[in-house]
Amino acid sequence: MRVGVFDSGVGGLTVAKSLIEHKLFDEIVYFGDTARVPYGTKDAKTIIKYSLEALEFLKSFDIEMLIVACNTASAHALEELRKNAPFEVFGVIEPGVLAAINALHDKNASILILGTKATIASGQYEKLLINNGYQNIASLAPSLFVPLVEEGFFEGDVLQSAMRYYFKDIKQNPNAVILGCTHFPLIADAIRGYFPKSALIHSGDAIVEYLRTKCCLKSNANTTTIKLLASDNVEALKFTASLWL
Ligand code: DGL
Repeated sequence: MRVGVFDSGVGGLTVAKSLIEHKLFDEIVYFGDTARVPYGTKDAKTIIKYSLEALEFLKSFDIEMLIVACNTASAHALEELRKNAPFEVFGVIEPGVLAAINALHDKNASILILGTKATIASGQYEKLLINNGYQNIASLAPSLFVPLVEEGFFEGDVLQSAMRYYFKDIKQNPNAVILGCTHFPLIADAIRGYFPKSALIHSGDAIVEYLRTKCCLKSNANTTTIKLLASDNVEALKFTASLWL
């Protein structure tokens, strides 16, 4: 099966990595909108417009399903994408919430959602968690984490200082931290160092579990190949893929 994976840029490779590791698909056609990243600072109208353009582009690659790896696009554009796609479209928010629920034991558990400004402003994670009976929820948009990851700061003083700044008001170790942005799994070790007792929810693992349980997809591809496409500087995307995948 050939699946399209769409992200605003390189970050969605963290989701592609999980899909490759679990061999759910024969082929991934990955499109990163590197010319227009970041989406996380843009308004809903722009995010929807860019996402629909990405869908039109990916339609020409004969894909049978689309996975929106980008949390920001999942938060704002999923409904429009579904209306306009001739195949199934999955975002990462519902899978992330289900993974958090599976990791938690009671409804009083505390949950910290980390995402871009646009993802947090959408309130999508909160809404789904509240619908499932959770109330002890905090949300945060540590915007500097995205450029830090892009620059390869996966550890060290600069990242630690950004973490101290963003997390200064979080007094208790949350029971779960939702890494609601494609880039954050790459700094999961640093985040775990900050919140050692929290379950960390990773969009890539969450979507794999979701596809297995909701769509009954099995890990029966011998190997998963990936075709890398970008709206700007595809060589940079390929280089990052060679490091991350
Ligand atoms: N891919 C985005 C997300 O997961 C992060 C980068 C951006 O702001 O476009 O929300």
